[in-house]
Amino acid sequence: MSQDTRHPFLKGLSKHRGTQPTVITIFGASGDLCTRKLVPAIYNLAVDNLLPADFSLIGYGRKPIPVEDFRTSARESIEEFSRRPLNAEIWDRIEENTHYCSGGYDELEAFKTLKKKIDEIEKGLGRETQSVFYVSTPPSVFEPIIENLGASGLATRYQRSDNHTKVVVEKPFGKDLESARHLNRVIQGVFQERQVYRIDHYLGKETVQDLLVQRFANSIFEPLWNRQYVDNVQITVAESLGVGRRGGYYEQSGATRDMIQNHTMQLLALTAMEPPVSLDPEAIRDEKVKLLKAIKPLDLDYERSDVVRAQYKEGLVDGEKVKGYRQTEGVSPNSETETYASLRLNISNWRWEGVPFYLRSGKRMARRVTEIAIQFKRPPSTLFSENEMFNLASNSLVFQIQPDEGSTVLLNAKIPGLQTRTQPVKMHFKYSATFGSNTPEAYERLVLDAMLADGTLFIRGDETETSWSLITPLHEFWSSEGQRGMESYVSGSWGPLASDRLLWDNGHQWRRP
Ligand code: BG6
Repeated sequence: MSQDTRHPFLKGLSKHRGTQPTVITIFGASGDLCTRKLVPAIYNLAVDNLLPADFSLIGYGRKPIPVEDFRTSARESIEEFSRRPLNAEIWDRIEENTHYCSGGYDELEAFKTLKKKIDEIEKGLGRETQSVFYVSTPPSVFEPIIENLGASGLATRYQRSDNHTKVVVEKPFGKDLESARHLNRVIQGVFQERQVYRIDHYLGKETVQDLLVQRFANSIFEPLWNRQYVDNVQITVAESLGVGRRGGYYEQSGATRDMIQNHTMQLLALTAMEPPVSLDPEAIRDEKVKLLKAIKPLDLDYERSDVVRAQYKEGLVDGEKVKGYRQTEGVSPNSETETYASLRLNISNWRWEGVPFYLRSGKRMARRVTEIAIQFKRPPSTLFSENEMFNLASNSLVFQIQPDEGSTVLLNAKIPGLQTRTQPVKMHFKYSATFGSNTPEAYERLVLDAMLADGTLFIRGDETETSWSLITPLHEFWSSEGQRGMESYVSGSWGPLASDRLLWDNGHQWRRP
């Protein structure tokens, strides 16, 4: 008898045979996120044989299009955006089980039709099927979608085991504390918290997960990880891209809502939290919330302000001339939206009291780079003190989250020669050199974890509210001030001078990554 040499997924086998059959419904099926990230992520999970053997995908969108069109656009999105080339056999197997439903997000009847579709799929399989509802629409329709998942009975197809139904909610999760609380109430009116998976795609990045490993699987860092040895911490999330065609969205958002409240604060929480008691999702999220709660309210007084906001002007990025923010389509010529923000945070707990944490994020900066730099205190200068012979730097440990993923330790070393002269040197660990460069995309990990009911890399309701409670007073202050205090920076630079001053006040300066 000849052996079946097909890919295991094609034979109906999965590494996750324990995972129940799954139907993922994506709301916002014609959107950018679905095209660029979600469909390619699902495809790559199939390539890795990580999808359950019985897997169906339903696209849900407002536009009534034939299912063939949705299938074609899904296939094209894999061709264009997948990290691995399309394998026709694997895709054909997913495509057979790909469906499309159209309807408004506030149209209960359309949700009932969706329910019939899922019931039919389940009947065809003859096995209980879990439903994952992925809300990847603009935030204005999050609420009707959740409510209709409740009203149509989709949220409660399985009364006895809420593990059978999950909802994944994309960002932005609210625009301030009040709206985040409201959205949490709406969601919790329909789902149990353990069924809810709030996305922050930074948590799906390999290097962000590696932070936990680097911190807690090594013993050399922990003794130094406190106010006695750490001088300051700098978290940079810089992008060289501008807002592109997202001017309309960005005007309502700005750097603090778009990047600081979520991605940057998550990096901060993972860097500064106490060791969790276990790797259990709740244990980790408890520690993150505790840390976020320990951050002191921001000082907004102009004399001592802990924050700087700015907009990019025209300039050169990668040798190309680019327009300023206010000249961008969809952006008001008098816009009060910040494209850059930096914050000085103080964490009031035993470990970190007195250690400033500097956060910055901006568009159109010199280079795309995300890094976390732990800057250590200088040693006592009894033997070596800074002079023309001794070029000394503070030790630092830098986690390069992206691109060039890895970490670097900065040390002082002797320059070879007959004199004793010193120079800072770097010890590098580079992901690509050690592990190769084809690592999974954040969304692959997140879609898989939602299917497997692992909430570790998702944001809990109280976590998002805690983070908003720090940022909301800042927005209220800025909106009362209008243009006052809005700085500018040249596109392709490292941000406004005022942001450098924020650090000079404490005798520090930003790293140039
Ligand atoms: C998104 C923001 O959450 O993250 C975008 O809305 C930003 O404005 C993007 O460009 C950056 O993500 P990444 O993974 O490219 O660093």
